[in-house]
Amino acid sequence: MNVLKPSLLKKAIGGLAIAASLGGTAHAGEVEVLHWWTSGGEARAVGMLKELMEKEGHSWKDFAVAGGAGDSAMTVLKSRAVSGNPPTAAQINGPEIQEWGELGLLGQLDSVAEQGNWDVLLPGVLSNMMKYDGHYVAVPVNVHRVNWLWANPKVLKEAGVEMPTTWEEMFAAGKKIREAGYTPLAHGGQPWQDATVFETVVLGTGGPEFYRKALVELDPEALKSDTMIQSLETFKRLRELMDDGMSGRDWNMATSMVINGDAAMQLMGDWAKGEFAAADMTAGEDYLCAPAPGTENAFVFNTDSFAMFRVSDEDARAAQQDLARLILEPEFQEAFNKVKGSIPARPDVDMSEFDKCGQQSMEDFKESRQEDTLLPSMAHRMALKSDVQGAIFDVITNYFNSSDMTAEQAAERLVNTANAAM
Ligand code: GAL
Repeated sequence: MNVLKPSLLKKAIGGLAIAASLGGTAHAGEVEVLHWWTSGGEARAVGMLKELMEKEGHSWKDFAVAGGAGDSAMTVLKSRAVSGNPPTAAQINGPEIQEWGELGLLGQLDSVAEQGNWDVLLPGVLSNMMKYDGHYVAVPVNVHRVNWLWANPKVLKEAGVEMPTTWEEMFAAGKKIREAGYTPLAHGGQPWQDATVFETVVLGTGGPEFYRKALVELDPEALKSDTMIQSLETFKRLRELMDDGMSGRDWNMATSMVINGDAAMQLMGDWAKGEFAAADMTAGEDYLCAPAPGTENAFVFNTDSFAMFRVSDEDARAAQQDLARLILEPEFQEAFNKVKGSIPARPDVDMSEFDKCGQQSMEDFKESRQEDTLLPSMAHRMALKSDVQGAIFDVITNYFNSSDMTAEQAAERLVNTANAAM
């Protein structure tokens, strides 16, 4: 399970920071980087980072742990940390950066941040996440939007339907797509994918304020409201549009179903765009993107970031600082994010060479910041502490897979989880 219990871990690791600095595995100028980018598009993107570091004269030791959204990667990271041997850098996102900071394991990036003017360059919502106790300990690579709907236009055409903009349209289109012989909605039955679809439905049903109350603040009133019951019912009903083989399927396999024309649509963050791009498909022609039904006025974000573990070796530290600096260079931001499917972490990057979906994403990101409809993704580690997020995932997945749990019962479990977390 993806649960980092600070007290237990703290006890287990004891003087880990010292152990890591004395007995660390880093060689001169080497960074060992833990990440979970193993799908086609993800691997292309991380390859660019590796190349950049190697051009700078450092060596990159790849520590990839397969598994979408990083649940397995985080488990492996914890066991490496417990045994006193964390990597020099790791993909750690959202409030988990704070959890690792509290353990005293992260090194500072303040001087790189100061030289690069990160406080001015980065939107506050990102820079705050990168700091622990007022110091930069991580660097953001990108901004992903979670609330997207992807589609294969040929399949939509064959079924005689348009891209749905409401949930009712989605079910109506789904029926026709099924009749035309295709799977309406590609899905992978894994807890984080269930949670991704669920949060999108919550937003599309209740709107941005409701999303924030329910999934960020875990407000019991919101969690037991009629709007939540309706969201849960719509979420479960989406099963009608999915196929029997979904259990355990990886997200990129679900994207492949849309790419191959076996399925019409997928509800997924824009890392899916990395798969379409890797398959040489053109946005707006070979595949379509649109905000998920009812969510066009909001932007659910997640940002990938790399946190640096404390090391005493001078060369390793120099490599970490270079990695952090290079990640935010505009050329890299542009090249990397085109391949990853995300938009740059710094909003000043030229977007003219991005595809339609990327350009729309940046516009919507900026607008949502002004309108206060920029929302942290619960499913992608942005909104809750890791143990609470894990407990919410359990409720969502159990409900989604249960034939007899009602929406009311699921809502009650969400309330109980929220109360236990307070
Ligand atoms: C997200 C992550 C993305 C993408 C996705 C699937 O949580 O932010 O970069 O890789 O998981 O693995």
